[in-house]
This record gives sequence, C-alpha cells and structure tokens, in this order.
Amino acid sequence: MNKQRSSFTSRIGFVLAASGSAVGLGNLWRFPYLAAKYGGGTFLLVYIILAVTFGFTLMIAEVAIGRRTQLSCIGAYKQLDKRFGFLGWLAAAVPVIITPYYCVIGGWVTKYLIEFLTGNGLETASDAFFGSFIGVQAPGLAGNPVTWFVIFVLINTVIVLCGVQQGVEKVSRVMMPVLVILSAIVACYSLTIPGAIDGLKFYLLPRWSDFSIFTVLGAMGQMFYSMSLAMGIMITYGSYMQKDNMLEHSVTQIEVFDTGIALLAGLMIIPAMVAFSGGDTTLVKESAGAGLMFGVLPKVFESMAFGNVIGTVFFVLVLLAALTSSISLMETITSIVVDKAHLSRRAAVIAVTVFVLLLGIPSCLGYSEAFAAIQPLGMAFLDFFDFISNSIMMPIVAFLTCVLVGHIVGPKVVIDEVESSGTFRRKKLFVIMIRWIAPIMLVMILATEILKFMGVVSV
Ligand code: PHE
Repeated sequence: MNKQRSSFTSRIGFVLAASGSAVGLGNLWRFPYLAAKYGGGTFLLVYIILAVTFGFTLMIAEVAIGRRTQLSCIGAYKQLDKRFGFLGWLAAAVPVIITPYYCVIGGWVTKYLIEFLTGNGLETASDAFFGSFIGVQAPGLAGNPVTWFVIFVLINTVIVLCGVQQGVEKVSRVMMPVLVILSAIVACYSLTIPGAIDGLKFYLLPRWSDFSIFTVLGAMGQMFYSMSLAMGIMITYGSYMQKDNMLEHSVTQIEVFDTGIALLAGLMIIPAMVAFSGGDTTLVKESAGAGLMFGVLPKVFESMAFGNVIGTVFFVLVLLAALTSSISLMETITSIVVDKAHLSRRAAVIAVTVFVLLLGIPSCLGYSEAFAAIQPLGMAFLDFFDFISNSIMMPIVAFLTCVLVGHIVGPKVVIDEVESSGTFRRKKLFVIMIRWIAPIMLVMILATEILKFMGVVSV
C-alpha cells in the first residue's frame, strides 16, 4: 500500500489525543472510590509508583511498536513476529467489545448533562430516576437510553470522519485543556463546602491499617485500564506519531495527565461526599461506578448551594472525558478496518458506526425487564462485555506483549525506536519491567479477577 498514513501534526497533538484516550470514566468514577477504600494517601503513593514503572513500561512499548511498524495492532504484532499475528487480533477484539458499551454509558452522561442544562438536574437525584431510565421505564423518546446512545455514537462518528488531524487531534486540543480547568473549578468548589476538610484528610493522609496486597492489586488493575493499555489504542496512536517526536518525554506527559486528572477527580468527589454524609466515610468507600456517578453524586449536588450549576459543569467535564476516550476507541477500530479491509477511511467509519450501533443495543437495553431473562454469566450485557474485555482479555494481551517484546524479539526493538528520537532515561527500568516484573504483575491481576469472579476473594 502506498497510501500516506495519517499523522498528528505535532508532539503536543499526540500527547493530548493519547491523554484524551487515557482520561476517561475510569479516572472519574473508579479512582476516587479505590483511593477511599484502600487507605487514602497509601493508595495514592502506591498508584503513583506503579504508574511511573509498570504503566510507563507498557505504554512506551505500545507507542514504540506503533511508530516503528506504522501499522495498527493487527499488522504490528505480526510484523514483529509472524507467530504473534493472533495477538494482534486479540488486541483488536478488545476495543471492538468495549466501544459499543462505552458509548452506551456516554449516552447516559449526555442524558444527565441535558437534564442539568435544562434546569431539571436535581430531579436526577431522586432514588428512582436512574433505575427507571436504564430500565427503559421512563416515557417518551427522551426517556429512552437508546436515543442518547445513538446521539453519542453519532457525535463520535462526525469527529472520526473529520480525520486524525482535523477530528481527533483538533477536538482533543480543545477538550483536554477545558477538562483540566473544569476539574480544577469543581475541586476548588468542593473543598469550600463546610465539612469538606475531613474528607480531604481522609483522601490524602495515609492509613496504613487499610493497606494490604489488595491495595497493590487494586492500584495495578486500575492503572492499567486507566492508561488505555492492551487494546491497540496506543499502538494506533503511536503509528500516527511523527518520527522525530521525543517518545519517552511524550509518554511521561501522558502519565502525568492521566494521574493528575485521577487525583483531581478524588478532590472533586471525596470531600463533597464526606461533607454530604456528615463526616461519615462509608458512602465513599462503597459507591463506585455507575451507582456513584448517576445515583449518589446527583444527591450530593442537590444538597449543595449552586448544585445545578456545579452539576452541569461536572457533567460537561464527564462528557468531555468520555468523548475523548470513545473517539480513541472508534479511531482504533477504524484504522484496523482501513488497514485490513482496504476500505476508504470514510467507508470504514460508516461501517464501524453501524456495527457499534447494532452491538450497543443489547448493552443499552440489558437492564430492562425484557432482558431480565438473558444474562450471560449472570450479568447484564454491559457488565458482561466489561468483564470479558477488562478483566480477562486485557491482562492476557498485555502479558503476551511483554513476552513478545521482553523475550522473543527483545527489548531492543522498543529501545531503538525510543532512542531514534531522543534519550531513554528509564531504559534499565524498562528492560527489567518488561521482561520480569510486568508479566508477573499481569498474571496476578488476571488471577485476582478470576478469583473475584468465582467469589473466592472479595476485593
Ligand atoms: N482509559 C479510560 C478510562 O480511564 C478507559 C478506556 C478504556 C478508554 C478503553 C478507552 C478505551 O476511563
């Protein structure tokens, strides 16, 4: 193929787009809860250490593979070693599974934002609101989750259709700085609420009594998902990175971005929640995921002065975070289709949109009564897809990537690519991590996830 591959226009364009992918719902609805549960400052410390070692290693490997091969993940793994072609397919399957349900959640966020924008936000705080919305019991088109899912998907389609430079990069360049500013505003406001200081202490001070191996495992699993690793995204984005952009430097900046927003999310959410519960910390330790964002937080906003305004700002920033992540997913699948099916970009984007719309419907309706009887592995569709991709496939892909780079083709493949455009200061660390420590950690993550699923351990 002699088609010119798309590219980002500058290093900072790459950094913002990749950070946009990394910063997502994981930072906002999972990180604060894990920090509360696993010992506040203790968890933060463990998390930061893991991000600059484990996360760094996996991310730099993926970006370097992408830039070196100039291919999306399917071709890239195969080019490194013919026998690892299957790994490219496995990695490609992850975004294919995640995108539809991620867009379903993006639809929920859009719905909440519109409710807040139109002044009805505080109604979302009622106990029945979220359940009846996702249970498809609310009346009318605006009450149906499918409507919001379709709207969210189409926003993605338009952005990805505009291309890597005019779509993904441009949008990330605007959205990411706005996201940081809005997060800082909400965090500052949250800290001024009476009683918030207790929450701040609970978040930042280390509590070694809550420390256990699960602190480390929890931090490891979270970081891995949060950095959008093991699903071909960083390979694709690496393939769009210019050859003379400093690679290590860029990866460090993405880490700082991702971890920074996660820390800010904790500042936004934990002090406000502790103040809301009158100093009791059980609520923050127990609410995570969709329940936190769509159930508990609206109640917290309801209790605040200017709750409608803060709620609106909050859902704008959640929408930005979700969008920049979902466009990275859609872009990754598109680039695979372009590479493999030799379609034009436009045709590929349309095909991907149709696929996402079709596959998202079961996740969208999975909580309704009509679907109560169809629950793979006893889970609603959305949770099932989430479990298969995040808990099972991603650790396997990352583990095999470590084996491939660390032992089959050798770390030099990555090192040469990094050094072709600058220094590689954490080279020694990289080699030890990719060969030995990261694979062991990944096996531990996979084992814990399986044991958790079987109900043997509860973390
Ligand atoms: N990294 C994203 C987050 O923290 C999650 C994500 C996973 C985004 C997969 C895109 C693709 O929420």
